[in-house]
Amino acid sequence: MKTILVTGGAGYIGSHTCVELLNSGYNVIVMDNFSNSKPEVIKRVERIAGKSIKLYETDMLDYDKVCRIFEENRISAVIHFAGLKAVGESCEKPAAYYYNNICGIMEIIRAMIKYGCNKLVFSSSATVYGTDNPAPYVEDMPVAAASSSPYGNTKIMIERILADICAVNPDWSVVLLRYFNPIGAHESGIIGDNPVGIPNNIFPYIQKVSVGKLPILRVFGNDYDTPDGTCIRDYIHVVDLVKGHLCAVDYVMKNKGCEPVNLGSGKGTSVLELITAFEEASGAKIPYEIQGRRAGDIAVTYANAEKALRLFSWKTLYDINKMCADGWNFIKNNPNGI
Ligand code: WQD
Repeated sequence: MKTILVTGGAGYIGSHTCVELLNSGYNVIVMDNFSNSKPEVIKRVERIAGKSIKLYETDMLDYDKVCRIFEENRISAVIHFAGLKAVGESCEKPAAYYYNNICGIMEIIRAMIKYGCNKLVFSSSATVYGTDNPAPYVEDMPVAAASSSPYGNTKIMIERILADICAVNPDWSVVLLRYFNPIGAHESGIIGDNPVGIPNNIFPYIQKVSVGKLPILRVFGNDYDTPDGTCIRDYIHVVDLVKGHLCAVDYVMKNKGCEPVNLGSGKGTSVLELITAFEEASGAKIPYEIQGRRAGDIAVTYANAEKALRLFSWKTLYDINKMCADGWNFIKNNPNGI
């Protein structure tokens, strides 16, 4: 049985990934410092899967402790989620973001090299396409020289680091998964997106409005060049997204090199369409008001999803209604979070 180390495994996407890995017969080791998540999440993952996880409460910046995980286990591959991810906060604290995200993955890479583990799946982002490439984004488009935030820059830099390592180490195998907009929750309703404080992203914000924890959604701009004037994004059900990770794990086991792969549906949904879909799935009312544009937003982003289909035989299965129904199921069961 293969053992996968999941860094940041207690987070939103990490926790859903652990469920799928356990369901597919992998041994799962989670390394998390719980800076933005809770140990309770791991208990819930174990409850869903009916299997247990080996948990290390470890900060990735602590090289000796990271090494201990490799020392004590035979790790076949790493899925790396751990990192700071709030776009706005990264603009206020760039040094903290570069230190944590860049130095963090470097400690993991150093430990992987020391213990002969050379298979990695990296949680990247569509943000690496920057503002100049037109949608739909294709993997061979040029990556932006710089993103609009230090958070985005850490994704660009880490992609480069991993490509450089693979270029001179023919035994290495890396998949760079470029996420579009993951939303929704596991259908059990016991794990989901559970951000601390006021959410930055639209879906957890809508969830909080739906249960009365926030009064009103602010829609950032309705004067974009789109059919209803609001921005268009490629929303993807988190369970579809994590199934893409299982394909990527399988791929790194059998192939070498460094491959960027989009994980998106290839379909765009506007902010107003998302609100309507959520209202229909939940029966809740989402009051909203139109405000000015948010700095840094792009009118239209969505994936060309053909490479994932070609390489992994993967495509999304769940539509926007299922994303909203599962997101509602999670928030109504956990109105105060986990
Ligand atoms: C989606 C749309 C907003 C909040 C960001 C990062 C990306 C990735 C995911 C991950 C936009 C509008 C939002 C609100 C709104 N990062 N909106 N009211 O900006 O596409 O992507 O999150 O860790 O790297 O850039 O996602 O959910 O913030 O916004 O109207 O209160 O919703 O303007 O059009 P985005 P988002």
